[in-house]
Amino acid sequence: MDSIESGIPGLDDLFNGGFPKGKMILLSGPPGAGKTVFAMQFLIAGAIENSEPGIFVAFDDLPSHIRRDMKSFGWDIEELEAFDPPLITIIDGFSDRVGLASKERKTIRANVDSLLITILDVLKETGATRVVIDSLTTLSSVVKTPEQVRKEILTLSAILGEQGCTSIVTAEVRGTPSAVGGIQSLYGVEEYSTQGAIVLNYVELPSGEFKRVLLIQKMRGVRHVFGWREFEITENGIVVYPDRMVGRGHLFTSLGSSSLLTGSS
Ligand SMILES: Nc1ncnc2c1ncn2[C@@H]1O[C@H](COP(=O)(O)OP(=O)(O)O)[C@@H](O)[C@H]1O
Ligand SMILES: [Mg+2]
Repeated sequence: MDSIESGIPGLDDLFNGGFPKGKMILLSGPPGAGKTVFAMQFLIAGAIENSEPGIFVAFDDLPSHIRRDMKSFGWDIEELEAFDPPLITIIDGFSDRVGLASKERKTIRANVDSLLITILDVLKETGATRVVIDSLTTLSSVVKTPEQVRKEILTLSAILGEQGCTSIVTAEVRGTPSAVGGIQSLYGVEEYSTQGAIVLNYVELPSGEFKRVLLIQKMRGVRHVFGWREFEITENGIVVYPDRMVGRGHLFTSLGSSSLLTGSS
């Protein structure tokens, strides 16, 4: 299977060289786990290292706030937006949802069947090969019914796949930081039936120190490491440490039952 670099240092070592090309990957985790940073880094790396245009659909934050927050990693999104065609396009799915007038070139209006149309529009315009939807949770709860979202995501996944476009969709996991990310997100995996699923979480060690951990929950057609690995959010973005395993023995809070985790397909 063809693969593309994830753009996250250390991550591709966990599954033989990168994300499966043309597939949709669900990225789940509790608030603050690093989903937005991870997803944006996937686009930025593609844009800067391989001139691959990307699309970021923002439902959770104002695009202007995303641009500002990402500056703390040294990522200048405006510069990438200024290319012709743009190397990054942010679609504003936030403003209309909270009743603000959008200041963006590309927007999706709440209660309008515009997600698919707008993404395909921008896809044609920019030749994007990487797409991010952040987050499905917000899209499901506010813009549409879960049933409609599920159907639309399946259609989107099929169309993006046909075009060789690799995508990340994020989903918020309910529960406390010490809750088991894997089990909770299984619901999400089944709900959206994506071809791959990655969980981000944070755990407390006996020392009281917190560590960020990541799990490749599934990656269809790809052999991958199965188990929690440590990662950090550094001033240059996310870095995964493929050799730093985080198992039960290392943790104060249990990371959950492996029989439940292997239950995903
Ligand atoms: N410049 C930075 N350097 C290191 N860590 C950062 C930086 N900016 C944000 N973070 C960390 O990233 C977290 C936000 O991650 P984010 O991707 O927004 O989470 P999520 O989308 O899963 O809610 C912050 O809570 C903070 O811990
Ligand atoms: Mg986020």
